[in-house]
Amino acid sequence: MKNIVLIGFMGTGKTSTGRLLAARLGKAFIDIDRKIESESGASIAELFADKGEAFFREKERDVINRVSRLRNAVIATGGGAVMNEENMQKLRESGVVISLVASIAIILERTGRRNSRPLLNRPDRAEYTTRLYSERYELYKKADLIVDTSDISPHQVVDIIVSFLKREGYIHGRC
Ligand code: S3P
Repeated sequence: MKNIVLIGFMGTGKTSTGRLLAARLGKAFIDIDRKIESESGASIAELFADKGEAFFREKERDVINRVSRLRNAVIATGGGAVMNEENMQKLRESGVVISLVASIAIILERTGRRNSRPLLNRPDRAEYTTRLYSERYELYKKADLIVDTSDISPHQVVDIIVSFLKREGYIHGRC
């Protein structure tokens, strides 16, 4: 079976939804950022600080390229993966692409809880987040399904995704 690929801005719930969805469907869960971290032996924040964003993007491209060759996995991408068309082409070929979106207010609330996102670690965080989201918004719309996670729990997001996958014939039976 094809992969199930989650895209979306930071704070839309890709990792928590992906983990739950994989458990529900009995599939492997691959989080691109965690894979980058384990392969590099450094956190995303350290990679940005020590090697710069361009280095991180190259590593992200390389990991997505390899992971796209797998099958039957749930894959959560980092929020910026959509900016590289080659990434998206590979991911689209490998599976069904599901986009998670949320309101800016919710994104700011969720991303404000932890300080692990180097791009948002700046004094003008709110303005910058709004700008970045609007710059990328069109890219997040290029998906087979778009789910607004603003007012629902990860379990409810998973229910919506599972219904869609059944309706479209990607999965069968009870799950
Ligand atoms: C990024 C999102 C992050 C991580 C990196 C860059 C982005 O992932 O890949 O900090 O450019 O939007 P999450 O979306 O999982 O936070």
